[in-house]
Amino acid sequence: MPNAPLSHVEKRRNILVTNALPYANGPLHLGHMVGFIQADIWVRFQKLQGHNVTYVGGDDQHGTPIMLGAEKLGLTAQQLVEQTEAAHKNSLSGFNIGFDNYTGTHDDVNKTLASEIYVTLRERGHIDIRTIKQAYDEEKGMFLPDRYVKGTCPKCKSPDQYGDNCEVCGATYDTTDLIAPYSVLSGKPPVERESEHYFFKVSDFEQTLSEWKESDALQPEIANKLEEWFESGLIDWDISRDKPYWGFEIPDAPGKYFYVWLDAPIGYMASHKIHCDHSGDDWASYWESANSENTELYHFIGKDIVRFHTLFWPALLEAADYRRPSGVFVHGFLTVDGAKMSKSRGTFVMADTYLKHLNPEYLRYYYAAKLSSNVVDMDLNLDDFVARVNSDIVGKMVNIASRCAGFIVKRFDGQLAEQSAAPELHDEFVQASRRIAERYEKREFSQAMREIMALADKANQFIDEHKPWVLIKEDDKLDEVQQVCTAGINAFRSLCVYLKPVLPDLVAQAEAFLNIAPLGWSDLAQPLLSHKINKFKPLMIRIEKEAIDSMIEESKESLEVASSEKSSNESPKLNAESPLGKDPISDEINFDDFAKVDLRIARITKAEHVEGADKLLQLSLDLGGETRNVFAGIKSAYEPKQLEGKLTVMVANLAPRKMRFGVSEGMVLAAGPGGSDLYILNPEDGAKPGMRVK
Ligand code: 2FM
Ligand code: ZN
Repeated sequence: MPNAPLSHVEKRRNILVTNALPYANGPLHLGHMVGFIQADIWVRFQKLQGHNVTYVGGDDQHGTPIMLGAEKLGLTAQQLVEQTEAAHKNSLSGFNIGFDNYTGTHDDVNKTLASEIYVTLRERGHIDIRTIKQAYDEEKGMFLPDRYVKGTCPKCKSPDQYGDNCEVCGATYDTTDLIAPYSVLSGKPPVERESEHYFFKVSDFEQTLSEWKESDALQPEIANKLEEWFESGLIDWDISRDKPYWGFEIPDAPGKYFYVWLDAPIGYMASHKIHCDHSGDDWASYWESANSENTELYHFIGKDIVRFHTLFWPALLEAADYRRPSGVFVHGFLTVDGAKMSKSRGTFVMADTYLKHLNPEYLRYYYAAKLSSNVVDMDLNLDDFVARVNSDIVGKMVNIASRCAGFIVKRFDGQLAEQSAAPELHDEFVQASRRIAERYEKREFSQAMREIMALADKANQFIDEHKPWVLIKEDDKLDEVQQVCTAGINAFRSLCVYLKPVLPDLVAQAEAFLNIAPLGWSDLAQPLLSHKINKFKPLMIRIEKEAIDSMIEESKESLEVASSEKSSNESPKLNAESPLGKDPISDEINFDDFAKVDLRIARITKAEHVEGADKLLQLSLDLGGETRNVFAGIKSAYEPKQLEGKLTVMVANLAPRKMRFGVSEGMVLAAGPGGSDLYILNPEDGAKPGMRVK
């Protein structure tokens, strides 16, 4: 795609973009497509602006689930990752995801980079070797990640719960607390065994991570999450696994392998390096901290892998003298029809199953129409999906061309008029350009789509008012018909520019119909006049409900087969090896969840500074007979003495949390943007400690 020239005021930016690398042991599903599509739209928008943008990806090819998955299929791990990579590439190109390079993490380039980075860390003293105890399956001859040990929940006694938490009562515990534990692999009780593990000392980077937390690289919700992790103390990160393990062996440590999450993000660097080897781009200028002032680096990820990307990854980069990301853009999970994707309902839809039944650009548009820069979950409501795509793209956008093209082609030999009937409409479209660009830039895609559709409404209104189908019957109105339809075709052309990041295929067809070179953002300024267009063919047909039904039906069938094989992990992430996996942020809760929160009036009997804490005060709270110790992040707003004697509201049934400075037994409620503008809730006198808040 040739890049459009930039306006003279703007500088050509050098931008490198990644999306989370999918695990190599299962097909892609519509949940995966949220990140791929979000990043792809942003990349295409930036390219359309004339910037120099590179989008790289690859599969995440290491780890225990891939090793065991291959074994189950009678393949070597190498064979499994090769097959999966081919399948993933195919699904991604089916959705028009325009990667500049796609290489999996098992590549030698990644091995070299990961090893070099590790050696640097070791030489600089950031690696610690410690002996830890872990569950071991004697029959299988391997250590067991938490997810591979099950047993009876120590709290509610439900059988078959995972080693780290109970899905029935929600309790979290250590694997050793499970009653009657057994290995998911052999069914035998695991034994405890000691082994040396290699730890990356994340806390060596507390200072710079703390600056990073305040930087604008992070969304506010994510910065808050980071703050919580800081408060509970930075924990060193275990980056080694014992053999047998499918991954890269650690230099000078026979039988020890890099944990999959160590070489996964380094895979971004490797994939980009491979791209640079072909394109001639300067890899170092994107990665080396000393050379990176003219380049930008952005990672699109889901909310479950925030810790890896905002804590471990920047620390690792820093430790090896690489630059920090300019932004980490986190999106929420996908729900379908208001609920978690479900195999039995057929809403756990694989990317390829979707592609068999529906046009990829329907989904690209629908996701765009719902995405924002916030970390919220996104619902694919199937009825709304049909209605929205049919109404916006088919009914509004494509309709403009189909209403005007026939007259131009049949009555004017395809020739657009020398002037448009509506230069003011054109101006209005051009004026919206900055606003729409801003919304794309800030990843406020849903707002951008709304603006664009409002313009489409205006163009349709204009055609309705001028009724070319009536004018065409009067011989002296032919010029007017040509000019009205020229205005309509130009409105359509502008909409094509605006929607090109979202609908690249549709717009490519439209360019052929309009008989023009690929559109760039700067083409908006000049209308298309005295120009011959081609015959119009329908650019997108309506979604039929039957296609959705067949897709859902097929998703039920294909997964029945899959689930008849015993699967060790039912979550949409087909390879959730890590107990750190879940970092839920702003999930919607239902009324029952809310009703569980026990809010009580409490009196602050004592408030003190906490040595070494930047943000916390330690409070003693009287709950009407019971005293609670709570650490509250309100130091920036209050002197301890001001607080003593005051009433406030606390969450009384929050599970105790171990923090760096002690255990916190609840939470006080406060409101405000932060800093000195932070106000604890302060009930009127007369309220009594211990009273329930209604
Ligand atoms: O959570 C996942 O699906 C991981 N495979 C993401 C890896 S992103 C990057 F670090 F490689
Ligand atoms: Zn339980």
